[in-house]
Amino acid sequence: MKILSIETSCDETAIALLSCEGSYDAPTINVTNQALYSQVKEHAPFGGVFPALAKREHAKNLVPLLLEVLTTAKETGINKSTPTLEQRERIQEILSQEGGLFELFEKHVFTLGRPSLDAIAVTNGPGLEPALWVGISFAKALSYLWDIPIIPVNHMEGHVLSVLVNRERHPHFASRGTHLITYPAIALLVSGGHTELVHVKEPLVYETIGETRDDAVGEAFDKVARLLSLPYPGGPEISKLAQASRADGEIVPPNLVFPRPMIASDSFDFSYAGLKTAVLYKIRELGELTEETKRLIARSFEDAAIDVLITKTRRALDEFDTKTLIVGGGVIANTYLRERLEALHEDFPHITLLLPTRELSTDNAIMIGIAGYARYMKNKDAYTAFDTQDIRANGTLSL
Ligand code: KG4
Ligand code: ZN
Repeated sequence: MKILSIETSCDETAIALLSCEGSYDAPTINVTNQALYSQVKEHAPFGGVFPALAKREHAKNLVPLLLEVLTTAKETGINKSTPTLEQRERIQEILSQEGGLFELFEKHVFTLGRPSLDAIAVTNGPGLEPALWVGISFAKALSYLWDIPIIPVNHMEGHVLSVLVNRERHPHFASRGTHLITYPAIALLVSGGHTELVHVKEPLVYETIGETRDDAVGEAFDKVARLLSLPYPGGPEISKLAQASRADGEIVPPNLVFPRPMIASDSFDFSYAGLKTAVLYKIRELGELTEETKRLIARSFEDAAIDVLITKTRRALDEFDTKTLIVGGGVIANTYLRERLEALHEDFPHITLLLPTRELSTDNAIMIGIAGYARYMKNKDAYTAFDTQDIRANGTLSL
């Protein structure tokens, strides 16, 4: 089955073309093509993602990315055709709220013809609603024009299933270890918007056992980076400084050790706002920071943030029957977290640890296509043409 997938929940505009086979619980996923535009440069002056700007950038970039994915894909079998007046008007209506997207669609997509695709998967939440809507409207327009079903996808399910890409055929995108999840599994999801521990009882069945009560871990990385005047996005910058500190064998002095919020609590919930505030107070107390102190603060913050993730994950593995540990979301790009997970894994040799590659850790459309395929295979009848389903953006959609 050929799936076109679209991701616009935050500041990455991404489209992928996947060729999928197999059942929903053990699919084989091959990436035919993918294109991604990161808006990091556009948002950097604001020090965070600015929703109206994200929406405008998605509207500008979706059509060029679609063309990139389809024209370089040999397998799509594009046939030229001209839309009817009725089709043109309907699509104009579907895209009426999405800035200049209709104009780009008219110029480039109408002339493209109908590619051989079986379905379109699109993120419908969680995320920034104005950003999500651009992707959804675009998917609806394509679904209508090409008369293929549309599959709404939960972005967090995408992060969970991002480890499933076929390892042999796509070493660049393949997950570490096998590309099969055995159930039940525990998923640790760590991104700019989420910090969650999820018990995956069986394929596509989730129970959230813990989540952040305030800031997400990626958000804490980004905020602490800002306090240290590091460039946006801050996660990778903190990580670089912290790794340099470790490589030099530096010891964090006691006055720079930060608290590990909720580490001893029975709950699987997290809290990162207090850690960020502790860093803020320390920086105020110290006044002017030397490069060496900055490095130690970054290191000490990362130690604290990741200690909590590892401790809670260890407890989840102790408490729940688990065959696989999956970790997904942008923060799994962090080298130290990966090292700590490998070390944790040594204590649970009977469990398979699945980590996405760095490319699949941060937001992308491949993971959305995987989740879309799994959902479709589980319940084909639920996914029909765009106007028979009420697909809406839901900023707070949960698993
Ligand atoms: O999953 P993602 O791309 O987008 C969301 O859905 O939020 O995650 C982005 C988050 C940002 O907060 C970013 O700072 C963080 O992932 N991140 C990192 C690293 N790379 C990205 N955090 C720590 N260390 C990294 N190397
Ligand atoms: Zn994400």
